[in-house]
Amino acid sequence: MLDAQIKKEILKSFHYGLFVLTINSRRNITAATVTWVSQASFEPPLLMIAVKKSSNSFRNLQDQDYFALNIIGEGQQEIAKAFFKETAVANHLLNGFPFILTEMNQPCLTDAPYVLECLKKHVYDEGDHAVIIGEITSLYKQKTAAALSLKSTGWSYGG
Ligand SMILES: Cc1cc2nc3c(=O)[nH]c(=O)nc-3n(C[C@H](O)[C@H](O)[C@H](O)COP(=O)(O)O)c2cc1C
Repeated sequence: MLDAQIKKEILKSFHYGLFVLTINSRRNITAATVTWVSQASFEPPLLMIAVKKSSNSFRNLQDQDYFALNIIGEGQQEIAKAFFKETAVANHLLNGFPFILTEMNQPCLTDAPYVLECLKKHVYDEGDHAVIIGEITSLYKQKTAAALSLKSTGWSYGG
């Protein structure tokens, strides 16, 4: 039996960045702030993202082979905060933030320093989050910036 307190302490000690996962399916656009993200291969360039199975994002991924991962920069906490809640598209804004569409029609937040467009390759459906493996297909560098770290925000997700 795992000690719940120690498990929490160890898993909360991991370092994460902040990202907004955006998906434009045939049905709708979803955008959600995620932290459980990692590079998963040099060649081909793969990423893995753990996505909550009860989320709109996970549902939207069933209908779309592509998604975008928007990297949030230092000082951009407001952007990360805006995507903890459900997605609303109004006046060409996504939860109040401007976006353009990538080559494969995925939302790219124009304020994010870097955006990666990915092709969904595998979905590992084991726990309450599914692990999505995506191959990077396009790169969008909009400015140079350091990435926002989860630790610096005081928020937590995990344990
Ligand atoms: C600090 C923080 C980090 C989060 N990281 C993740 C994550 O890695 N994966 C995930 O599926 N949800 C994560 N969430 C929850 C999503 O942001 C939230 O459920 C999301 O807004 C779901 O939106 P949707 O149902 O419209 O997809 C995190 C929440 C917080 C507060």
